[in-house]
Amino acid sequence: MQARIVMYSSSGHTRALARLLAKATGAEISEVICPRYDGPFGWLRAQSDAVRGILPDISVRPAIGAADLLIVGGPIWRGCLAPPLRRLLSAPDRLPPVAGVFMTCRRLGAMACLETDLARLDGALTPAVLCLGAGDIPSASPDAAGGSRISGFLDRLAPLLKRPAVRPIIPADITL
Ligand SMILES: Cc1cc2nc3c(=O)[nH]c(=O)nc-3n(C[C@H](O)[C@H](O)[C@H](O)COP(=O)(O)O)c2cc1C
Repeated sequence: MQARIVMYSSSGHTRALARLLAKATGAEISEVICPRYDGPFGWLRAQSDAVRGILPDISVRPAIGAADLLIVGGPIWRGCLAPPLRRLLSAPDRLPPVAGVFMTCRRLGAMACLETDLARLDGALTPAVLCLGAGDIPSASPDAAGGSRISGFLDRLAPLLKRPAVRPIIPADITL
């Protein structure tokens, strides 16, 4: 299977975790771009949108391309996946199946609507889930505690990543 990591990061923690996961899996990274939360009032808009469930405009760079599986990641905002990532996942039928979801947050345990967010995926796979406090990301601190949890997440992903890709076989005599 060809997996791709698609992640949103506002202040860099999730990006750092994505890079560790990319190194471990060989997957390329695409970034969710969301200008709405940039600039001096971005933080206020982020808080407000997270509370009100507003889904902002996003783009994904580079494009997801020919991936068979996604590993998606983003920060937790007000107990939910951040709105840019929720926006990405709001059209699951237009995405490859999501094999894993990783999140970073300030404090573990404050994730009121995570279950709803994950239920929305409703795909053929039950995604592996990893949530780390920002200080637990190994590159954030030499003695960060997240290493074993990252290994557990990768162990859950491994069988999915090893599956052969299922691609449609198009007979030669059919014109598309
Ligand atoms: C608008 C906003 C809301 C947040 N809400 C929460 C929260 O509810 N619980 C929590 O633990 N952290 C919360 N945080 C902290 C982020 O989840 C944490 O810093 C995360 O690692 C940031 O990831 P990033 O650097 O990839 O953007 C919030 C941060 C922002 C900007």
